[in-house]
Amino acid sequence: MPGGGAVPITGTTDVSRVEAPVTVRAYLIVAFAAFGGIFFGYDTGWMGGVLNMDFFIKQYTDAEYPDVKFPNLDPLDPVVVDYRNTIFSVPSWQQSLVTSILSAGTFFGAIIAGDTADFIGRRLTIILGCLIFIVGGILETASTGLNVMVAGRLIAGLGVGFISSIVILYMSEIAPKKVRGAVVAGYQFCITIGILLANCVVYATQNRRDTGSYRIPVAVQFLWAIILAVGLALLPESPRYWVKKGKLDKAAAALGRVRGQPLDSEYIQDELAEIIANHEYEMSVLPQTSYLGSWMACFKGKITKPSSNARRTTLGICMQAMQQLTGINFIFYFGPVFFQQLGSISNPFLIGLVTTLVNVLSTPASFVMVEKIGRRPLLVFGAAGMVIMQFIVGAIGATAGKNTADHPANPNATRAMIAFICLNISVFATTWGPCAWIVIGEIFPLTIRSRGVGLSTASNWFWNCIIGIITPYLVADRADSARMGSNVFFLWGSLCCVSFLFAFFFVPETKGLTLEQVDQMLEETTPRKSRAWKPHSTFASEMHLAEKNISVPVETVETKREGSAV
Ligand code: BGC
Repeated sequence: MPGGGAVPITGTTDVSRVEAPVTVRAYLIVAFAAFGGIFFGYDTGWMGGVLNMDFFIKQYTDAEYPDVKFPNLDPLDPVVVDYRNTIFSVPSWQQSLVTSILSAGTFFGAIIAGDTADFIGRRLTIILGCLIFIVGGILETASTGLNVMVAGRLIAGLGVGFISSIVILYMSEIAPKKVRGAVVAGYQFCITIGILLANCVVYATQNRRDTGSYRIPVAVQFLWAIILAVGLALLPESPRYWVKKGKLDKAAAALGRVRGQPLDSEYIQDELAEIIANHEYEMSVLPQTSYLGSWMACFKGKITKPSSNARRTTLGICMQAMQQLTGINFIFYFGPVFFQQLGSISNPFLIGLVTTLVNVLSTPASFVMVEKIGRRPLLVFGAAGMVIMQFIVGAIGATAGKNTADHPANPNATRAMIAFICLNISVFATTWGPCAWIVIGEIFPLTIRSRGVGLSTASNWFWNCIIGIITPYLVADRADSARMGSNVFFLWGSLCCVSFLFAFFFVPETKGLTLEQVDQMLEETTPRKSRAWKPHSTFASEMHLAEKNISVPVETVETKREGSAV
């Protein structure tokens, strides 16, 4: 539309026209953002391995290498094993500190990012997260002792907190409704690849006797930060952010680019109209007047009402807590030690690698399942599946798989337990793994979305940290532990029963709807009936947008590129 002027934003009454058709380029834009998952996985994955590296332990304890101190003894000789257990190991409190300080950083990072994403935008918040992460990474790499490492982990954690929450927000806001679930599942896929990569890099450097042993795994992370920051610098901002800011020209420009459509396309105008009308509606229900008020808004309304902000925030926070309480990270964090305890396993690290591989290979099935079957059934049946798998592992461990002085481990029973643990991972990877992230990106209205996603992500990291801290006290073979052994699977299985009930009663179906339609659905139905709900009117018609004379200046629309290249 040459020559300037303004495009009127009137909206449509046709519910099938509230989202523009999508091009391949638009798919590529959202797929790229999923790359942020690599951070999440890699950063949680490398520390455990590094803590067991001889060079790292020597640096932290100043004790002599076991093979230098006992040159004539076999590494499995009880004297050497005892030396490793008592003197040549990073003290437990230091292990807990360097591991859990990351989660502390991520917890606060996710909450702070919920704020910054509304002030400076989703894209810049992610880029800022990458920069903070690089500062933390530099300290981690430079460190030769506890203090600098702890400071580095805390700062890197802040960065990961920024990235892990706002990537979900950004992807959910720009993805086309038909594939929104699949692309966020792509983020989960990247998390699993990150965990696998961390395991592989640590495996490759663990026997080095120089600083490269831990500096290489730590430094590899700079690559992820640079790729994500540069990529994001080229991508468009979320159009929903610009609508929230009242910058409709920028919103139209960004929407045109994420949909790969010309700006004067009626589709773009109709989709923009719907986002604007929905935001106007939300603001009319709950006006936000102050900074504090905008945080308080997350907890406003009756918890019994599915559409209230209080209910949605609670849903997001509980969703992420439940995901962690499935016990999945018990396997990833504590796997090698647990497999060792089962007896009759010669290489527990290899089994650990197999479990991470099963996680990676199972996840892609979820790309299709979340869109065909839907989020709600996957969460309900996924929880049920994990109850069954984990109870079977617990039952075998308590009977044929028992490994005690009077009942030596039965190799077949051990194999069966590992097989069911792998099946359990597959169920998680196709259900609760991706769906917990998908749902938190979809359930919040624009007015509180960035804070809601931030709080939910912080809940994930909070429980992640709790699991990391308590697990050794549940299963480790030491005096201060409950020594639950494989009975711990009865605990995770029981918690999955709670997840099952939670999903059945509280999680709505959001597949195939725009984020604005999700809002309408929550207003009009209950989680259990949500699958049958169909969009029947548009926000633009209900808010009488056509009468409000909203228009977008065309010159600005056509010339502004937001400084980005895609
Ligand atoms: C969870 C992580 C977990 C990973 C395993 C993610 O969705 O939030 O805590 O380690 O899945 O794939």
